Amino acid sequence: MLITADMKMADLIHLDFQLLAVIQRIGIPLGFREKTIDEVCKENNVNTDFFLQISNSFHDKDFFPKERFFEFKAEWLVNFLRRTHQCILEHKIPEIELKIEGLVEDLKATTRNYELIKNFFTEYIRELKIHMELEDNKVFPYVVELDKSLEANKKTPKFEESFSDYNIQKYLEDHNDIEEKVFDLKNILIKYLPPPMDNCKYNSLLFEIFRLEKDLSDHAKLEDKVLIPKVKLMEREIKNL
Ligand SMILES: [Fe+2]
Ligand SMILES: [Fe+2]
Repeated sequence: MLITADMKMADLIHLDFQLLAVIQRIGIPLGFREKTIDEVCKENNVNTDFFLQISNSFHDKDFFPKERFFEFKAEWLVNFLRRTHQCILEHKIPEIELKIEGLVEDLKATTRNYELIKNFFTEYIRELKIHMELEDNKVFPYVVELDKSLEANKKTPKFEESFSDYNIQKYLEDHNDIEEKVFDLKNILIKYLPPPMDNCKYNSLLFEIFRLEKDLSDHAKLEDKVLIPKVKLMEREIKNL
């Protein structure tokens, strides 16, 4: 089902509650009453079309109008990606950590198993932070400055100063796959650990990890399929300035 501008925002959440994440990351607060998507977007200074393309692509994995995404301001995309990092690092990861800690009692007899999961996840968080910090501190500011330079028709002083020898290819070389390890963690839990005493707790941890994996793969898709090709086009344009 295609999500359209005249649909009520509240109905959108009933249709697909996972879109709550999109609404939050695009910067729209709750409390929609009977308002349509278009009305809510306008009230919050969000481009309705941008909201629709993102929502549709998260709702339906086959919907991905890459070219349409290229038309939107790079900064909108960067803000969305930044908020996703924040949500993952500040909320999702601590929730999973807490759930892992909750397993200590159940896995008491096999301390090694508990240590195995805990160490694996601790190492994963470390890598995830490095990955996201590089994007937040280097890649995204570069994209924003590139965008500003193109808009002004001349390179901004900040662009000249900080990014004159930077390009997106440098980021691509280190842009590793951050979902892969989440898949490994799922496998350790599903395949190799002894059956837990409290299945409910264990499943709830697994659900969280599945959700994190989906979130990270949607996120990486936006970076790899939209942000990077868009920046490559922008880099071609800036050469002519
Ligand atoms: Fe990212
Ligand atoms: Fe990334």
